[in-house]
Amino acid sequence: GLWTAVFTFVSYFVCGIPFGLIIAHATGHVDVRRTGSGNIGTTNVARSVGKGAAALTLLCDVSKGLVCMLVARHAIAAFALAGDVSALDHRTLFGCSMSVVFLGCVLGHVFSPYLHFHGGKGIAVGFGAALGLWWPVAVGLLAVFIVFVVPTRYVSLGSLAAAVSLPVWCAVLGFPAPSLVPVVTVAAAVVWAHRENVGKLARGEEHRFSFHRSGEG
Ligand code: G3P
Repeated sequence: GLWTAVFTFVSYFVCGIPFGLIIAHATGHVDVRRTGSGNIGTTNVARSVGKGAAALTLLCDVSKGLVCMLVARHAIAAFALAGDVSALDHRTLFGCSMSVVFLGCVLGHVFSPYLHFHGGKGIAVGFGAALGLWWPVAVGLLAVFIVFVVPTRYVSLGSLAAAVSLPVWCAVLGFPAPSLVPVVTVAAAVVWAHRENVGKLARGEEHRFSFHRSGEG
């Protein structure tokens, strides 16, 4: 309904804030779009500036997704669904509304309105928003991410695996079928944002994560 549209719109503009770009500029005086992979996310801030700036980027990007989802969750629960709907309809409508807001969060970061509709790869914001969508989903995503990143040190491989697992976790955790449409769209947007990484992984040219700042990427 109207409130879902309002909070999706607001989340798009809030999650479009490129914290990595701002933090790297403020702390390292670099434009991360011109260093390393050129991405504005935590991984490239770590590569281009260092651990502290990367940790702050991660915190801000996770928080913007989580906060948008929590605000939308309480508002939609309070106003939008107060009408005369059965418990089952309520659950389905609420699940669908929150999934659409979730999509708004991730699209805001990946296609930022402040960066000519360019942006990041959606991992930190998607994790934060998934925490607010339903925390077991975020636990599942984190588990997949860790299983792929720890042995390989390819952050992008873990990100891609987590993205592909997202609709699976939502289906397994009993999300209503229509809510899987925005969820699959989130997964597709994240994979799309990683298209260069897919090429690098396939060619064996992807950079492995290191805590030492490298400046190349
Ligand atoms: O945080 C995004 C990650 O999956 C890949 O980042 O900079 O290595 O392309 P990057």
